[in-house]
Amino acid sequence: MTAATAQVPGRGDFEIAIAGHGVAKRFGHVQALVDADVEVRAGEVVALLGDNGAGKSTFLKCLLGIVQPDAGRLLMRDEEVQPKTVREAQARGVDCVYQDLALAPDLSVVDNMFLGAAASACSSSRTICPASSRSPTAP
Ligand SMILES: Nc1ncnc2c1ncn2[C@@H]1O[C@H](COP(=O)(O)OP(=O)(O)OP(=O)(O)O)[C@@H](O)[C@H]1O
Ligand SMILES: [Mg+2]
Repeated sequence: MTAATAQVPGRGDFEIAIAGHGVAKRFGHVQALVDADVEVRAGEVVALLGDNGAGKSTFLKCLLGIVQPDAGRLLMRDEEVQPKTVREAQARGVDCVYQDLALAPDLSVVDNMFLGAAASACSSSRTICPASSRSPTAP
């Protein structure tokens, strides 16, 4: 009898979708982030939890190029990045849906996530693009 060992892929076998390592950010006398480490691998769904003021939004703003970190490394798709604008992050498939009421209840979750990208792609006609005409850079 032969025993076959199945090779189950480990987390490390999947590429890093987004990550921050050792990220720090200070706003004046407020140290919003200290040595923050977050890593999301391809295919994972990750929740970032923390108290009010813990730095969750600041971390996301670093990834989105809204805020420039004082220290640390950011990665997208296994590549080190230093996004300076939201457009740069969006071009790499990274975007954010904010915790406000500016959602379109008739659209799907995915269409809501890429509402900003779709609207800007169709800005000349001032319409919301249907999913089928979204930019090919949006995943
Ligand atoms: N632009 C800014 N200028 C000054 N301080 C800021 C700025 N942005 C965030 N902070 C401060 O940095 C800290 C982290 O804020 P952040 O918004 O990242 O927390 P959070 O975890 O998203 O909180 P919440 O759960 O309330 O959304 C807080 O003390 C906040 O007041
Ligand atoms: Mg927040």
